[in-house]
Amino acid sequence: MAPRRLLLVGEGNFSFAAALSETLDQSTQLTATCLQRPAELARDPLAWENLQRLRERGIDVRFGVDCTHLADVFELHEREFDQIYFNFPHCGRKAGVAKNRELLAKFFQSCADVLAEEGEVHVALCRGQGGTPADKPQREWHNSWQVVAMAALGGLILSDVYPFSCKAVSLKILAYFNNDRLHIGALNHVFTRSLPFEGSQPRIFRIKLGNQWFSFPEPEALVGKLNRGFLEAPSCHPIKTINEKLIAELGKVFPLKRLKCSYPLLPQEGTSVLPFWNCDFLSAAFWISLHEDNSNSESLTGGTSQDVEDFLVSFSELSLLKNPGRDGKEEACEGTCGQAKICLRPSLLVHVQDVIEVPDFLSGSLHILSGPVFQKCHILPFTMPAFHETLFILGFNQNLKDGCLQSLLDHLKGILDSLLTQTLPESSKLSSLVKFVLQSNGKDYMIRVKTHNFSPDCTEDLIIGSVITSATSVIHKDQCFVFVSMNLDLLAMLVWCISDWRMLWTFDNRFLKNFVPGKIEPFKSHSLYPPCYVHDVSFWIDQKKGFDELEFHTVARAVSQDAIISIQFLSRFQHPKTQQVSLCYRLTYQTCDKALTQQQVASMQSQFRKEIQQHLYVIPR
Ligand SMILES: C[S@@+](CC[C@H](N)C(=O)[O-])C[C@H]1O[C@@H](n2cnc3c(N)ncnc32)[C@H](O)[C@@H]1O
Repeated sequence: MAPRRLLLVGEGNFSFAAALSETLDQSTQLTATCLQRPAELARDPLAWENLQRLRERGIDVRFGVDCTHLADVFELHEREFDQIYFNFPHCGRKAGVAKNRELLAKFFQSCADVLAEEGEVHVALCRGQGGTPADKPQREWHNSWQVVAMAALGGLILSDVYPFSCKAVSLKILAYFNNDRLHIGALNHVFTRSLPFEGSQPRIFRIKLGNQWFSFPEPEALVGKLNRGFLEAPSCHPIKTINEKLIAELGKVFPLKRLKCSYPLLPQEGTSVLPFWNCDFLSAAFWISLHEDNSNSESLTGGTSQDVEDFLVSFSELSLLKNPGRDGKEEACEGTCGQAKICLRPSLLVHVQDVIEVPDFLSGSLHILSGPVFQKCHILPFTMPAFHETLFILGFNQNLKDGCLQSLLDHLKGILDSLLTQTLPESSKLSSLVKFVLQSNGKDYMIRVKTHNFSPDCTEDLIIGSVITSATSVIHKDQCFVFVSMNLDLLAMLVWCISDWRMLWTFDNRFLKNFVPGKIEPFKSHSLYPPCYVHDVSFWIDQKKGFDELEFHTVARAVSQDAIISIQFLSRFQHPKTQQVSLCYRLTYQTCDKALTQQQVASMQSQFRKEIQQHLYVIPR
C-alpha cells in the first residue's frame, strides 16, 4: 500500500511536527515546513531541539516554504498529499482580518495544486476566527476570517470540524498546546475537494417513439434532474430505500400490484385526462418542444456523444400517456409531434385514469406507481421543482368505502410514524408526528408532519402527501377509488434529517456513502456551514404585462443552477410622478454540496439581471 503522505506548513518552532512524528508509524511519510530560513530560527533553542528530534526520525524538513506557493516547492512526483496541516495561521502581529483572510485564500488555492484527490486540508483556528456556527460563540461573519468562503476559492468544502484538542492529536502533542491560552476553544477545520461548480449546459435528451427519434433540451431550471434513475434497480439512493420500506409495510396489510411507470413525458392531448381536481398542476408544468431528430440515432446511443443522453422509450412504455377513448388510436405523439408540445409530468395523478381502466384492475389491491415528477415552484426550503412521487390507488365497492378508507388511513399513519421516528431520540417517539388533516371539501386529507423534532428552525408542519377520496368523477365499473400521493423526497429528508432537498440530487458520491441499503441511520453531510452570499435586485415592471413571480423564481433557479436558497420580497415603490412601479427582492446564494465563491455568485447575479430583463419584461435599476 502507498504510504500516507502528510504535509505541515507554517510550523513555528516545529513543536507540533516533533510531537506528531512520535505518533506516526511506518506507513506515514511526514514533510514538515516553515516559512523562515534556518538563520531566523537560530535564537530559538526549542526549535533546534525539535529539529534535532525530527532529523533523528528521518523526517523531511524544509525551510523557506511559502504555503501560498506550494506548487513551486514540490515537484510533480512529490505532490498528492493525503493531509495538509496549517495550525493557527497568522500573517504576523499587526495583521488584521483582511490580511489573514488573504493568507487563507491563497493557501487554499495553493493546496489545490498539491492535494490528493481524496485528500484533506486541516486548518486549526483560534476561537471565533473561522466565523462558522461551530464557533461558540460565533463571531460576526464580517469580523471573522470567513474560512469556508476562503476555502471555496480553492474549490474546497468544510467536511468536518471539531475542538482542536479532541480528535486531532495525541496527548504528547496536547502537552505542547496546554500552556497556551490561545488554543482554548480552538477548532480544527477539515476541508476536502468539492465537485467543480461549473456552468454545466443543459443536456440534450432524445426519445424514440415508434420508429422516430425526437430530441429536447433539459429545461435550464432542471439541470441534473432528469433521468437520474434513483428509483431504479441498482440504486441505493435513500429515496428508493424509503419507497421500498413504505411499500413493504403496506404490503403486510393489502395485496399489492406494482405498475411500471412510464417516462415522465406527457403530451398535450394527455393532459385532458386530468380530472378537475388537479388541473392547476398544469399551470406549473415545464413545457418542452420535441424536435424530430434525424441524426444517426443508433450510433449516438453507444455513448459517443457526451451531450446527448437518450431516454430509451419504446412506444409501449409511453402507452399510459395516450388519450383513451379516441378511436383507440395511439395518437399521443406519433405523426403529430414534428414540433409537438409535451410537458414533463407534474404529478403521477395524471396516470390514475389509465390505471383504473386497465381490464385486469384488481379491486381491493393497492396499485402502486412510483416515479419522478416536475413542477415549477417558488424557491422555498421544502418545495422542489423535481421530486419522486409514489401513488397508491385503491379501488373498492362503494358500500365498503368507509371501512376500506379507515383501514388504509390507520395503517398508513402507523407506518409513517414508525419510519419518521427511526433516527429520533426515544423521548421524541412518544407522540405521533403524523396527522391527516381533513380539507375544506370534507373528503380529502393532507398528510402533515410535525417537524420541530427535526430542526429547531422548522416551526410549521410539513405536508408530505395527500389522500384523495373526492375523486367521484372517477367511479368506474361500480367501484370508487382512493388515491394516496406521497412526496418521497420530503419523506426521505425527514427520515434521515437531511436539511436541504438539493442534497438528494448531488452528484457527489460521498452522499450515497452515508446510506447502507435498507437501513436508516442518521445522515451527516460532507459539506458543513457553506458560505452565504446576499444580493439585492430591484427593477421597474411593465404594469400592462404584469409581473410573473413564479417565472422570476424559475429564472433565478436556472441561472444559479439551484444555488439560490431563498428569495425574499423586500419592497414595492411607486414613483410619485411617473406612477412606475419598482420591486425589490433579496437573493441569498448558498450551495449545499459544492464550493461556491463570491466571484461565481457575482457573475450569476449579473447574468440574472440580464435574463429577467429578457424574459420578464422588467428593467433592472
Ligand atoms: C501563530 S503562528 C503558528 C505557528 C505554528 N503553526 C503553531 O501552531 O505553533 C503563525 C505561523 O504562520 C506562518 N505563516 C504566515 N504566513 C505564511 C506563509 N505564507 N507560508 C507559510 N507560513 C506562513 C508564520 O511563519 C507563523 O509561523
